[in-house]
Amino acid sequence: MSEQDPVTLMKQYVGKAAADRVTSGMIVGLGTGSTTAYAIQYIGERLKTGDLKDIKGIPTSFQSTVLAKKYGIPLTTLDEVDRIDIAIDGADEVDPQKNLIKGGGAAHTREKIVDSLAEVFIVVVDSSKLVDQLGSTFLLPVEVMPLAMTPVMKALEKLGGKPTLRMGVKKAGPVVTDQGNLVIDVKFDAIDNPADLEKEINNIPGVLENGLFVGVADIILVGEVVNQEAKVREIS
Ligand code: A5P
Repeated sequence: MSEQDPVTLMKQYVGKAAADRVTSGMIVGLGTGSTTAYAIQYIGERLKTGDLKDIKGIPTSFQSTVLAKKYGIPLTTLDEVDRIDIAIDGADEVDPQKNLIKGGGAAHTREKIVDSLAEVFIVVVDSSKLVDQLGSTFLLPVEVMPLAMTPVMKALEKLGGKPTLRMGVKKAGPVVTDQGNLVIDVKFDAIDNPADLEKEINNIPGVLENGLFVGVADIILVGEVVNQEAKVREIS
C-alpha cells in the first residue's frame, strides 16, 4: 500500500469508484465533504479525457459549486432539469439499514433535497462511518433559523436531546450555513427510531432540516483497508 494516510486513501478509492458509476448524459447531484470532493475531482478528470460527455452537476453547497467549477463540471439547477440520475454524497454515520446522519459540513438541508430526488443515491464513506445505531459517534445536526434558536433548543431538550450551537473555527461566533442559518448539534443517548425522530424534529417551528436521512440511500460504497490494501465494498 502507498505511504499515504489510510483514511485519505480510502476516501480517494470510494470517490473514484462512485465517479466511475457516472455515464455520459447524466444529471449528477454533487454532494459535500472531503470524500465527495474526490468523486468531483475524478468526474472532472473523466470529462477532461473525453471518457465522459454531456453531464451536468447540481451542487449541494458553496464547496461543491467551487470544486465543480475547478474541475470543469458544467452546473445546472433544479429549475432546469426534470430528473437527477445519480447523486454522490458522503455521510457522518451509516447504520445497517442504510440510514444516515449527515451535516458535519452544515450542508445537510441542500444535500437532502438533491439526494432525495436522485434516481440512485450513492453514499461514499470510509469504514469508520459504519455504526450499529445512529447517534453512537456523531451529534445530530439541525439547521435552524437564527430567530428561533432558543425555542428550538428547548424543544430539542424536550425530545431528550442535549443541544449545542455549532461554533465557527477561525471565525468568531457561530457557523452560518450557505442559507444564512445556524446549526444546532444534538446529542441523543440512542436514536431508536430514526424515521420518527426525523419527522418530530422537522415539525418544530423554525427548524429547516435535520441530518437524519432515512430510506434515502440506495448504495453505500465503503472504503476499507484489508491486509494493508485499500478496497471498496458495496452495500446495496
Ligand atoms: C456535509 O454537510 C456532510 O453531510 C458531509 O457529506 C459529511 O459530513 C461527510 O463528510 P466527509 O466525507 O468529509 O467525512
